[in-house]
This record gives sequence, structure tokens and C-alpha cells, in this order.
Amino acid sequence: MIDNLTDVLADPVDGTALTLDAPGGPLRSAAGRTFDVAGTGYAVLTPAGLDESLGDSEDMVTARETFLSRGHFAPFVEAVTASVVQALDDAEVPDDQQVTILDAGAGTGFYLAHTLDQVEQARGVGIDVSTDAANLLAQAHPRLGALVADLAGRLPVRDASVDVITSVFAPVNLPEFARALPPGGRLIVLTPAPGHLDELRAPLGIDLVDAALTEDIRRAAGEFFAEVGQPRDVAFPMTLDQESIANQVAMSPSARAINPDELHERLDGLADPMTVTAHGLLLTLRRR
Ligand SMILES: C[S@@+](CC[C@H](N)C(=O)[O-])C[C@H]1O[C@@H](n2cnc3c(N)ncnc32)[C@H](O)[C@@H]1O
Repeated sequence: MIDNLTDVLADPVDGTALTLDAPGGPLRSAAGRTFDVAGTGYAVLTPAGLDESLGDSEDMVTARETFLSRGHFAPFVEAVTASVVQALDDAEVPDDQQVTILDAGAGTGFYLAHTLDQVEQARGVGIDVSTDAANLLAQAHPRLGALVADLAGRLPVRDASVDVITSVFAPVNLPEFARALPPGGRLIVLTPAPGHLDELRAPLGIDLVDAALTEDIRRAAGEFFAEVGQPRDVAFPMTLDQESIANQVAMSPSARAINPDELHERLDGLADPMTVTAHGLLLTLRRR
């Protein structure tokens, strides 16, 4: 699907347009830099070598895909899609006009694929730094193009080239999101809120949610964005068996911090199944 995105993609070094040498890649910039397209379909759009340690590992990606495909986060997935639909409605985008949705830190593409299923006029661009995630991302939906890139740097898309950006439990780069959106374009951000997974944190030794995260994003966003309404609470109980709890831990940064044997011992001490709270805050921001 990279082939249908050449009007959006840009050289991550100088922002100039990219062209395809042939269907399936590689991509070439005006300055002569080339960027490979992997056999599974994602393009690697990084200025230099890729720091693989930044992104999710193969085990984290497998755990995430299993957890999400069991529907445990369905209310989060539906809330993000509903916000995208609302953004397009508010902008009075005609039904027959193509729109482009960029998911920044898209992981396996579970959220973006759900949105593309609901918004038939949309194509998707998913960015993630993990090549293990990108293998699934590239196959997640026929109208989705997968890019491997570091969100901390220049995004490999042209100025004002996407209509909506979503960010779900992922790093944000507000100046770059602002550059990629036209005035009026929407940024939808879902962050974990205090209370998220609380029943698991003490027994398993998982880090607490950063209670200041949403406020920090709201404060920093003010330079480029105006808020649309108030942040929306999305909170719901999940019934998780031990396998799903293990997947939840394995898909989080805690996976790297807890010794696997120790984790198994702690998991054995939990009720099976048990009720666990999910709690996120959904922000909608409009590019000034
Ligand atoms: C918590 S996961 C969320 C994934 C997806 N949004 C979801 O909710 O299923 C965070 C994602 O951000 C990616 N990520 C972390 N740091 C990144 C960076 N600097 N640039 C791009 N992606 C990054 C990880 O590889 C991972 O897929």
C-alpha cells in the first residue's frame, strides 16, 4: 500500500518528495537518497541506522496483538474511531472525498485498521519504530501503509499532508504533528489515566501511570492546537484470565523490568479470572 502514498511521503532528512523506482520500492528522494521497502510491505524512512531498542520487541508485539484481538481494549478502540468520525463530521468532509489518517506509534495497526473499516473514504499511514510491529502493521488493512520511523525526529510525511493524526499510548511529537496537519486538522490522543490497571500494579510491581502526562501534553499542545471540548474519560472493567494478564504485562515497558520467573510467581498469586480497570483520557485537538 506504500505505492498509493507517494503524495504523502517525504524524505526524513530534508522533507522533499519521494518517488517509487518501481512498484514495491525502493523509494527515492530528490537528493538521491533511497529507502527500502521490506518484503512484508513496510518502508524504512529513517535518516540513518535504526535504533531497534526504541521500539517494541517481537515478544511485546505478539503479546499486544493477542491481548487486543481478544477485545479487552474494545472501548478504547471504539472511542478512538468515534473521535476520528466526529472530526470528519465537524470538518464537513464530503463522503466521497479521500482522507488520510496517520497513526503515530501504531504498533500492530489494530486501532488504525478498525478506524479504516469504519471510515471507507480513508487511507491510513501507520508509523512505528519497531520492525516487528511493522511486519503486522503492513498487513493490518488493505488501505494502510506502514512506515518504520522514529517519532522523535522529523516525520517522513509532507507538510499539511494528513487530515487526522491519532496517538494511542504512544510518544507524541507535537511540533511534527502540527507540521503534518493543515489548519483545522485534528489530533486525537489517548493517554493512560490514573487508575489504569490499578488492580495489577502493586501485586505485579508494574510502574504507576504518570499522572501528569495528559496535563503536560495539553500544556505543550497550546502552542499549535486548540482543544475541542474537554478531555474525555474512557473507563471500563475488564475480566482477565491469567494468560491475558500475562500478555498485558508483556506488552508494556514493565516487560523489560520484571524477571520472568518472578513474574510467573506473582501471577500465580492472583485470582483467575480477575476484574481489572482500564482507564484512559481522550483528547481532541484542532490545528490552529
Ligand atoms: C504502548 S505501544 C502502543 C501501540 C498502539 N498504539 C496500540 O495501542 O496498540 C507504543 C508503541 O510506540 C512505539 N514507539 C515507541 N517509541 C517510538 C518512537 N520513538 N518512534 C516510533 N514509535 C515508537 C512502540 O514500538 C510501540 O509500538
